[in-house]
Amino acid sequence: MSDHFKVQMQAINDYDNRPKAANPVQIQDLTLRDGHQSLFATRGRTEDMIPVAEMMDEIGFWGVEVWGGATFDTMHRFLNEDPWQRLRTLKRYIKKTPFSMLLRGQNVVGYRNYADDVAYAFVEKAAENGMDVFRTFDALNDFRNFETVVRAIKDCDKHFQGCICYSLTEPRMGGDVYNLDYYIKKAKDLEKMKADSICIKDMAGLMAPYDAFELIKALKETTDIPIHLHSHFTSGMAPMTHLKAVEAGVDIIDTCMSSYAYRTSHPAVEPLVMSLIGTNRDTGFDIKKLADINVVLEKEVLPKYKHLLDDSKVSIIDINVLLHQTPGGMLSNLVNQLREMDALDRIDEVFAELPRVRRDLGQIPLVTPTSQIVGTQTVNNVLFDDDDEDYKMITAQVKDLCYGLYGKTAVPISSKLQKKALKGYERGTKPITCRPGEVLEPELEKAKEEIKALSSDMEDVILYTLYPVTGKKFLNYKYGKETPPDSLKARTLEDVKKADKILAKAKAGKLVEKSLADAPEKGENTRTFNVFIEDEYFEVSVDEPGGQPIITYAQPPAEQAMPAQPQMQAAPIAAARPAPSAPKPPAPKKAAPVSKSAAADAEGTPLTAPMPGMIVSYSKSVGDAVEKGDPVVVLEAMKMENSLPAPVSGTIIAINFASGDSVAKNDVLCVIG
Ligand code: CO
Repeated sequence: MSDHFKVQMQAINDYDNRPKAANPVQIQDLTLRDGHQSLFATRGRTEDMIPVAEMMDEIGFWGVEVWGGATFDTMHRFLNEDPWQRLRTLKRYIKKTPFSMLLRGQNVVGYRNYADDVAYAFVEKAAENGMDVFRTFDALNDFRNFETVVRAIKDCDKHFQGCICYSLTEPRMGGDVYNLDYYIKKAKDLEKMKADSICIKDMAGLMAPYDAFELIKALKETTDIPIHLHSHFTSGMAPMTHLKAVEAGVDIIDTCMSSYAYRTSHPAVEPLVMSLIGTNRDTGFDIKKLADINVVLEKEVLPKYKHLLDDSKVSIIDINVLLHQTPGGMLSNLVNQLREMDALDRIDEVFAELPRVRRDLGQIPLVTPTSQIVGTQTVNNVLFDDDDEDYKMITAQVKDLCYGLYGKTAVPISSKLQKKALKGYERGTKPITCRPGEVLEPELEKAKEEIKALSSDMEDVILYTLYPVTGKKFLNYKYGKETPPDSLKARTLEDVKKADKILAKAKAGKLVEKSLADAPEKGENTRTFNVFIEDEYFEVSVDEPGGQPIITYAQPPAEQAMPAQPQMQAAPIAAARPAPSAPKPPAPKKAAPVSKSAAADAEGTPLTAPMPGMIVSYSKSVGDAVEKGDPVVVLEAMKMENSLPAPVSGTIIAINFASGDSVAKNDVLCVIG
C-alpha cells in the first residue's frame, strides 16, 4: 500500500479527527443565491433561508453567496420582499462566514449600464448592510465598467473579486477570440486593478476539464492572487472540471448543497468533500453537518418550491449547451419566448441564427444581460425578418450596444448593423469609444425627486432607479399605498399538503366519486381547473369557504425562465405535470382605460403587441398626431425593450393600457385614426 493511500485510508476511517490538509480547497456556497436562481427562477424567500442559516455558518465556507444577480429584481417584483432587508436579516444568523454577492459592474443588479452615482451608491449601501465580497463581472469583459464600483468597494474596505466571463466560440477553449492568451491578459488587467481574488465565471458550464487544468495552471503561474472557479453543471462537465481545477491548484470552488445542485445549478459540495478526504486539498468539512442541513432543506423548504422545478425532462444534463455554447438559462428563455408566440417549432431556426447575431454584435460573451440581448434579437429576427429586410425589429438594448453603451465588444460590431441600429438613435449616430459611465448623466437626484412623495430613503431611491416601473409598484406596497395581490404571497407547507392531497385523490380515482348531495353551493370565487393525469382527465373545482379565493392567477412574466405553464400560485394542481394538451388558461383581465373590444371597434388602425410583455411607456397620448414609423409605445419582453412604431400616419384615438400593464400577443395597444 502506498504511503499516500495509507494517509487517505486513515483519514477516511477516522475522518472526524483527520489532520488539516496542507493546502485545503476553499469552498463558497451558492445555495442561497445562484442555487435557487438556477433551479427555481430565484423565487427563494428569506424566511426559507433562515432555518439553515446558522447551520451553514458552522461549516467553514470561504463565503456564502446570498445576494446579487437576479435576487434584487425577483424579490421586489415577485416576492414583495425588500432586497436590502434580506441582507440585514441573514446577517443576524450568519455571523462568521463572509457574505458574497454577484455584481454586474456598471450594470449593478440591473440590465443596463447605470450612471456612476448609482453604481457607487449601490455598493456603499450594500457594504453598509453587510456585504463583504463583491464578485464583479462585466458581460463584455470590459473592465472599464469596473472602475466606479471598484472605487466604492475599496473605499468601503471590502473584498473586490474580479471576474472573467468564460466564453467560447468553438467547442473547446481556443480559436481567435477566447483562447488562453485572452484569459491570461484579462487576469493581468485585474491584477492591475488590485483585485483581491480572480474568478473564472463559467456561467454556461462550457469549461471542459482539461481546459480548466490548462487555464488554472497558467493563471497560477501568472499571478499570486487567489483563483476562484464558478462553473455551472448544465452540460454535465462541472464535477470533472472541478477536480481537474483542484489538481491544477485552484484556490476556491463554488458549490451548492446537494438538494440545490445539478441541472442548471452547480455541482454539490458533498461529493467533492468526500473525494478530497485525506488528500493535500482536503476541505476539512464535516459531511454529517452538511447532511443535517440537507434534511432541513428537503423537509421544510423545498416542498414549497418543487412546483417551480422544471421537470419536463428526465435528463438533468442539457447537451444543447455543448452543441450551441449557450447558457442553459438563455436556452430556456428562448424556448419560453417562442412558446408564448406559438412558434416553438422554429427553435432550430433560432439555433441557426444565434451565432450569426452574436458575431454581428461583436462575438460577445453570453451572460446577463448580453445573453438576453443576443437571445431576444435572435428571436425577433427569426419571427419578424423577411426576404427584403434583416434586423427588422431591433431592440433598444441592441441599439445601446451598437452605440457603445455597454462597452467594448470582443471584436468590432458589424458596421452594417451598427449603422442601421443607430439610425435615429436618441444619443446620436456616432458610436462612442470611451468608458460608458462617462456619457451617462447622474440619475439619483432625478429619481429622488420622482419618488419623494413615497420615500426619501436612499435604499428605496436606488431600488426605484434600477427598476422604475416594478420598483415603484413595490414601494407602493411597502408604504401601504396599494394592496399587493395574492399572487405575491408565499406558498406555505399547508398549501403544499392540500395540493398533494388532491393529487393523491385524483390518482386514486376518488376525486369524481364524491357525493354531490351534501355539497355546499359553489361560491363566487370557485375556480375550475383541468387536471390531466396520464391519459385521464379530471375537472376540479376549488372554492375556499369564507370568500377569499385561495387561487389567483398570475401572469408569468414573458422574460423569466419559468416553467412553461402559467403559474398557479398555491394551486392544488401546480404539482401535477401539465399534459401537453392542457388548454391554456385565459389571459388575465386588465383594467384598461378603454376596453379592448371597444378600441378594436373604433374606426382606425390598431397597433397590436407582436409578443407578450409589459408596457414600459407610451410616448404619445390620445389626440397626438403621428407619422408612420414614429415610436409610439415601448414594450418590455424578455427584459428587453422594444420600441413599437406607428403602423400608419394619423391621430391616436385610443390608448388601451398603461405603464406596468402586462399584455398578451395581439392585444390592441392603441388605435390610430
Ligand atoms: Co452562476
